[in-house]
Amino acid sequence: MIKVDLTRAGVDVKGVDISEAHKRLRDISVENWNVWIETPHRITDEEIERTVKTAKEIRDNFDVLFVIGTGGNFACVYTGYHWFDSDFPIEFLGTSFDPMVTDRALRKWKGKRICVNAISKSGVTLETYSALDAVKPFVGRIIHTKGEKWKDRDFTILEGVGGRFSARDLMYLPLAVAGVDVRAMHEGARTAYKVLASPYDNEAYKYAVARYKLHTKGKKTVEIFASFFEGLEGFGWWWQQLFGESEGKEGKGLMPVPLVYSRALHSMGQYVQQGNQIFFETLFNVAKPPIESKLNAAVFEGTVKAHAGAGVPLIVISVDRLDAYGFGYLLYFFEVACAMSALLLGVNPFNQPGVEFYKKEMHAALGGKG
Ligand code: PA5
Repeated sequence: MIKVDLTRAGVDVKGVDISEAHKRLRDISVENWNVWIETPHRITDEEIERTVKTAKEIRDNFDVLFVIGTGGNFACVYTGYHWFDSDFPIEFLGTSFDPMVTDRALRKWKGKRICVNAISKSGVTLETYSALDAVKPFVGRIIHTKGEKWKDRDFTILEGVGGRFSARDLMYLPLAVAGVDVRAMHEGARTAYKVLASPYDNEAYKYAVARYKLHTKGKKTVEIFASFFEGLEGFGWWWQQLFGESEGKEGKGLMPVPLVYSRALHSMGQYVQQGNQIFFETLFNVAKPPIESKLNAAVFEGTVKAHAGAGVPLIVISVDRLDAYGFGYLLYFFEVACAMSALLLGVNPFNQPGVEFYKKEMHAALGGKG
């Protein structure tokens, strides 16, 4: 399904012992922070059917869905919504405190039937709940996707699973509303769960080890992740958050920089070709995109040649096709790669103490209110 090509990466993945990290990831009896690994099975078929049914109710009774959430909660939904041919409007609110976003959405949908899906594991994130407060008087239905401790939740984010690793918990409802086949998406994740269960010939681990070596031995401090489709810009943001929030701890971690080519070849292309070589590049290619284009295929080939020729270490990740099934596989693949990568670095992939610190300071700045 997904292939990782290291021919131009300038690293050899041999010699890195992943056995301990693999055990910590796969054996959920060892620790309880990795329950995320089992989400393809913890989310049951019944739960998927309930999600699809709720999505139909929303489609039948409302004109628009406001998805309110920030961080991983926003990124997972946004990435799917912008890749697929969504046939129901979704507005994204509560990603920051910018009041214009909420105001614009309310003016745009004035007099229309608005449904809200508020997504927050902690149930207290200020960005999310201040936006929810602002829109409450104008909406017909509010659906809460929340952590297990909240009684008023409609859909559940499993305990022990952070936002960025909760893609399956939280994106299925809004994506089903958008017309995406979430049953197929979940099947894709289940296949990835099986395929990536072995420490051998594991493409996700191959990617993790290659970036680990480029970071620690190759002394690269930045990873550029470039895709070739505008609809994957959101995926780049999700990738950035996944790796940034999971690895950026204790003074460690590659700085993740997502780009979309060829657009960014006209801005960052100069830097990549001739700038300070503190980075390596991961090129993400979709072999059979929904619409094939010789020009876009040529951009991929041209980029590989130009950047490899300039001495940039290149990891090439190729997925055959990115339908709903492939998308489910893809997200799980990157979650596995990220968790392995963080463990190799010796940091806990599943917490975000820096983010929690910001949240505390923000509450304090508001005098403990909010
Ligand atoms: O990935 C994460 O865990 C974070 O980005 C959270 O999603 C973000 O901070 C929002 O937190 P919460 O889900 O508690 O509202």
